[in-house]
Amino acid sequence: MKIGVLTGGGDAPGLNPAIAGVVERATKLGFEVIGLKRGWEALSIRENDDHVVALGPEIIREYSRLGGSKLQCSRTNPVSEENDRTDIVKENIAKLGLDAVIAIGGEDTLGAAGVLSERGVPVVGIPKTIDRDLYGTEYSLGYDTALNVICDGAERIAHTAESHQTIFLVEVMGRHSGWLALRGGEAAFADVILIPEYPFTLEKLVGVINQRLEESEQLGFENRYKIVIVAEGTHILGEDAVRRDSKLDEFGHYSLGGVGNYLKGLLDHEFSHTRYTALAYLQRGASPSQKDRQIGRRFGYNAVEMLKNGESGFMIALQHSRLTKVPLREIGKSPRLVDVDASYDTDRLNVKIEWAGANG
Ligand code: F6P
Repeated sequence: MKIGVLTGGGDAPGLNPAIAGVVERATKLGFEVIGLKRGWEALSIRENDDHVVALGPEIIREYSRLGGSKLQCSRTNPVSEENDRTDIVKENIAKLGLDAVIAIGGEDTLGAAGVLSERGVPVVGIPKTIDRDLYGTEYSLGYDTALNVICDGAERIAHTAESHQTIFLVEVMGRHSGWLALRGGEAAFADVILIPEYPFTLEKLVGVINQRLEESEQLGFENRYKIVIVAEGTHILGEDAVRRDSKLDEFGHYSLGGVGNYLKGLLDHEFSHTRYTALAYLQRGASPSQKDRQIGRRFGYNAVEMLKNGESGFMIALQHSRLTKVPLREIGKSPRLVDVDASYDTDRLNVKIEWAGANG
């Protein structure tokens, strides 16, 4: 069997360990693996010789510990309405002699995989996104590493916030969902956490920050600094999410970023010292955590196993901590969003958060 492996969308720690897992299992089975560079781009263009690289067992040890993607990533959509390249993808698969493709990516890369699979392309998906909001899986590669970066980043910021007695807005990623902000902020003992699922009014936010300051005062604390974690997809009630630029990618997404700065501008009128920082790509740039290495390796290993068993058209998934599979065509369903009460219930955590959202 000859397998092509690609990584699409934004990079995330865990991609390289997953590729290593694919190669590890394929080698044992006597299968051949080639890397397809820059996501679906490799199969969507005709002159693609420089997009193809042989992957043998010698890459395993190096890839197992590296962040990013050695195969590079792109946001190429081979099945976009304006520029559908399904025929070129099929031609390339035949030209390269591939029996199947393993696509590692998020909602967009795997959504395209689902469409291609329905059109007869044998493909298996591996879930990746630091946002951890993909339908059908409770884990996607990159989330754990990003959480640790957020925890570490918020702790660093706290030193400066304390020294200057600042209301500090720390922006983290999270387009549709606030898992990173919620779990990272919780671990960092943040004072306020703002997520896309719960839009709020400025008055409410100012009120909650003031309430936190009063609580500190009542406890006799000298400190008047507060840490506010803001997910990039957060928005004020009635307003759109803040965009970093106005260009749409091939999947119809704007790039987000800067909502923390926008809020800082508004809070400047209410508090004497406010500051903003975005952890941005630092969250994706780290070396993969133990969990992202281990799960990445298992996802890769089992993707090959699935192909060996003649199965395609599925994404490997984790449900209730067990490996399972989900049909790729379902990936486009609604993302896994935070429902504060339900999420705490599920995790059996005895923590009650007073919510800054207008709904709670
Ligand atoms: O989906 C993962 C993610 O990190 C989002 O949180 C973010 O909106 C997006 O990728 C940004 O990706 P890029 O700037 O690389 O296009």
